[in-house]
Amino acid sequence: MIVLDENSLDCAVELIKNGELVVIPTETVYGLASNALDGKAVSKIFAAKGRPQDNPLIVHIADISEADNLVSSFPEKAEVLTEKFWPGPLTIILPKSDIVPEEVTAGLDTVAIRMPSHPLARKIISLSGVPLAAPSANRSGSPSPTSVCHVIEDMGGRVKAVVDGGNCTVGVESTVISFAQEKPRLFRPGAVTTEEIEDLIGDIEIDKAVYSKPDGAIKPSSPGMKYKHYSPRADVIMVSGSQEKYINFVKEQCGREGAYALCYDEDVPFLGARALSYGKKDDFSEQARKLFSCFRKLDSMGAEIIFARAPERTGMGLAVYNRLIRAAGFNFIDLSRRH
Ligand code: TXA
Ligand code: MG
Repeated sequence: MIVLDENSLDCAVELIKNGELVVIPTETVYGLASNALDGKAVSKIFAAKGRPQDNPLIVHIADISEADNLVSSFPEKAEVLTEKFWPGPLTIILPKSDIVPEEVTAGLDTVAIRMPSHPLARKIISLSGVPLAAPSANRSGSPSPTSVCHVIEDMGGRVKAVVDGGNCTVGVESTVISFAQEKPRLFRPGAVTTEEIEDLIGDIEIDKAVYSKPDGAIKPSSPGMKYKHYSPRADVIMVSGSQEKYINFVKEQCGREGAYALCYDEDVPFLGARALSYGKKDDFSEQARKLFSCFRKLDSMGAEIIFARAPERTGMGLAVYNRLIRAAGFNFIDLSRRH
């Protein structure tokens, strides 16, 4: 895999024009991109990632005007959100137009669109002259990559090139909100928070899958939500409760080989070498930025079981909570109920 930079973007653009894949940086996570209007190029993404065929992709654009061709309608509330949050970590789902190939939408009649704020992402899209379909550039099921090293770990040998845009500043994938039904519905929480969205367009629905385990019998509205996701190789157990209870619990558990704590900065002095912090207790942006690289680091440290301190669910904390509970396969211990 060759590593390109801002001075060699023409090479990335050439690959895209030839129907090949390139990993591009975005402010959220690195994306595995191809020409979104070329169904054959898009199917290569599924093969390289090992992604289930029924999981649709996000289409990335460089300018708001490019969205019009991709959709058959653009409700006013969606317009209000894109005016405020584009470019940035917000994806909207709208009824698709005929030019979007079914490989992108996995046969659905809606399309997910996002305009990233990373300058290199926008430059690559503009120079390519086409919108780019791009899921996170990880192997299906593993944590999304937030640095070039992560990309090489997962995609080396499977994709020809990655454009180095530095470490991702957001660190978790975009907020996904759907306008395909009566009331706007949040499918995936991200850096654009529910509170910020509701301030602008009023009440939205939060899809059940944001908090709770998908019910095998019900077809999820966003296919990606049914898969176990974002996980390190180690088993993750999410633990909630006071700091004192968490620390006592982890001290008991971390006696065994391969057991580690994924905790706040404030907990580390009490836990020692088997603890890795994913940020300060009240700094949700820092937690989001560090979470996925902590998963990878814990794997490299030889972790077999990880006791992760559960984040708050307000603001961007909800995005961190959502990724952690999925990584944990909904394994949750609530210490506040224990004496
Ligand atoms: O921040 C991001 O969104 C990153 C960067 C690369 O832009 N991309 C990303 O893509 O996270 P991906 O494929 O890993 O996640 C896209 C999610 C999936 O859960 C998928 O099921 C959902 O969006 N999705 C895409 N199109 C959809 C549609 N038409 N209807 C419902 N859900 C959709
Ligand atoms: Mg993904």
